[in-house]
Amino acid sequence: MNLAIIGCGGMGGNHAQFATNCGLNLVACGDSHKKKAQALAKRFGAEATDDCMALCRRDDVDIVGIMTPTPTHSAYVIAAAEAGKHIFCEKPFGRTVDECLAAEAAVKKAGVRLFVGHVVRYFHEFEAIRAQIEAGKAGNVGFVKAYRGGIFPQGEDMWFRDYEQSGGVTFDSSIHDYDWIRYVFGDVERVFCQALQRDDAIDYALVTLRMKSGVIAHVIGTWAHPAGFRVKVEVCGDNGMITYDNAEAPISSMMRQVEGGQPTMIVPANPVETSPYQLEWVDFLAALEGKGEPKVTPEDATWAVRIASAALESAKSGEPVTL
Ligand SMILES: NC(=O)c1ccc[n+]([C@@H]2O[C@H](COP(=O)([O-])OP(=O)(O)OC[C@H]3O[C@@H](n4cnc5c(N)ncnc54)[C@H](O)[C@@H]3O)[C@@H](O)[C@H]2O)c1
Repeated sequence: MNLAIIGCGGMGGNHAQFATNCGLNLVACGDSHKKKAQALAKRFGAEATDDCMALCRRDDVDIVGIMTPTPTHSAYVIAAAEAGKHIFCEKPFGRTVDECLAAEAAVKKAGVRLFVGHVVRYFHEFEAIRAQIEAGKAGNVGFVKAYRGGIFPQGEDMWFRDYEQSGGVTFDSSIHDYDWIRYVFGDVERVFCQALQRDDAIDYALVTLRMKSGVIAHVIGTWAHPAGFRVKVEVCGDNGMITYDNAEAPISSMMRQVEGGQPTMIVPANPVETSPYQLEWVDFLAALEGKGEPKVTPEDATWAVRIASAALESAKSGEPVTL
């Protein structure tokens, strides 16, 4: 199958590699900065254009990959759907819930497939944590803490630094954790957020999610690191605690001592090598071949934007937002 990529920056380059690893043929690269399109096209022997709407309508394209800044996603999703193309769109699905709903409607009407790249569902470590929770290792979970932090990203024309476009760390980065927490613990009932959003490359958010199940989740997002990237997770239940810190061992479980004297247990995992970004393509392509449903549905992606939007609204108002 033939692929076109719109947005040839950081993620466009990554997805070009992972999609072609899966056997897709990259035929066209589009970017509003034509030089970016030309550079990526050259690497893969594809054509380059800055007319990305026309690229959506090319007869030789089966799948359109959308890896542009978030506020541009929905217009490209709609154009690609109307042209009958299947779509892989980076997260966040849109900058607003209305954009997501319009894009969902266009996809449904056209009868095409849309996949949104909520990649944390494909991280081996997060899958291992989910499997342990589902196996009851932590018992009845009461509390979850997720931390995701790194440098303030720049992006082409510094678009991440424009909070209107990116939504800052509260929206753009913590959305990974909102989605994973909803995936594992079900629907979110209420969102409360305190956020900084300073314009000197310091952005920090502390979000509390109250899940319908009663689970409380804290999501901490920071774009204030001087360097590096750190991810941490803590899941506490009445049997014990599951923790993950990407700076330490891949994963460990410390089970609470129980009657009968079982020893406290440390279980290191052994994550395999395939990139989670490639696993997204494997899952999406399997769905296109009629082999099941991908882990992320368009509705999931809209829910993630709904939670992220509620977090921004709460940060602004100082009040919790009920969904
Ligand atoms: N899943 C992840 O881990 C992850 C990581 C980083 C970024 N992202 C997401 O991927 C998307 C792209 O982020 P990035 O880091 O690659 O940004 P980037 O700035 O590196 O790349 C974006 C590219 O889109 C081009 N562009 C801008 N406006 C355009 C338009 N209207 N039409 C066509 N091209 C346009 C830019 O010239 C640039 O080359 C964002 O939605 C971001 O949130 C996801």
